[in-house]
Amino acid sequence: MSNLQSNSYDDISKNIITCNKTSEYQKVWEKEASEDSVKSAAGIDRIQKGNEIDQLLVKIPQFYENFKSGKHYGHILEFGPGYGRIPLYLSKKKDVQCNLYTGIDISINMLKKLDSYFDKYDTFPNRKLIRQENTSLPVENDSVDLIISSAVFLHMNKESVIFTLKELNRVAKKGCEVHFIGSFPNFYGLGSFPSNFISFFKGKKTNYMKFYSLSEVQDLLKEHFDKISFDISVSDFSVFHRKFPKAIPFNKKFRKYSLDNSPHSQLYNLAFGSCFSAISKK
Ligand SMILES: C[S@@+](CC[C@H](N)C(=O)[O-])C[C@H]1O[C@@H](n2cnc3c(N)ncnc32)[C@H](O)[C@@H]1O
Repeated sequence: MSNLQSNSYDDISKNIITCNKTSEYQKVWEKEASEDSVKSAAGIDRIQKGNEIDQLLVKIPQFYENFKSGKHYGHILEFGPGYGRIPLYLSKKKDVQCNLYTGIDISINMLKKLDSYFDKYDTFPNRKLIRQENTSLPVENDSVDLIISSAVFLHMNKESVIFTLKELNRVAKKGCEVHFIGSFPNFYGLGSFPSNFISFFKGKKTNYMKFYSLSEVQDLLKEHFDKISFDISVSDFSVFHRKFPKAIPFNKKFRKYSLDNSPHSQLYNLAFGSCFSAISKK
């Protein structure tokens, strides 16, 4: 253990350490994790039938469905893993392996769940799970080969995102692979209208989505994650979300158009698609 780690974090169990910091924002996540961790992580109610692993591996982003099987990494670090939906998928369905997995989450309930699922499904046995909120990460400089974060930055305030990007930049090895999937909701996204409209009447929780423009995402990464160059794309949220009824005028047409790979549709997606992902250039 480095000094930073032993000074700032307490051991909870063999694999989990925690800092003392708590906040209202953290309490929202703890509550969601204890009520329905699948809903908290993937945004849909847990389906209480079939086998457990199928209940957990839901709404997998297309990027991971298309992921090459059998990759081996030295050190994988995931920011905001929740109960481990993405790493469980990578391990069980894509045969991804690593020497060390580090999971960093704000919620201790989530990390405890992740730890027990990883044991149960024989996933990444050498792991370090860290509960923190905007605290320096007890991870060595230039030590990580793959960084993953899916649907986390969009909930955080922008100062926390900048703090986190700087920390991730610090720990990334040169040439590190980085996947920020579904991370930055598009301010101009047509698909954001329905949820914004509803939240206008229902009020917003502290972890409600924060919006970005494409140039804001590009500048943010250039300034605070300068070790890596990124390709920005729109994740499979596309224009109107696939869950939205076909009855919405032009919804089906929009969706079909947004998924076709023509240069026009790619431009259109970048302008009006719902959520940006940033993936390190190969
Ligand atoms: C929507 S869930 C996504 C979970 C997981 N990445 C997935 O795709 O299934 C967001 C996760 O990020 C965690 N989180 C939110 N804000 C965080 C922060 N500031 N630091 C670390 N984790 C955070 C939450 O506790 C939760 O587990």
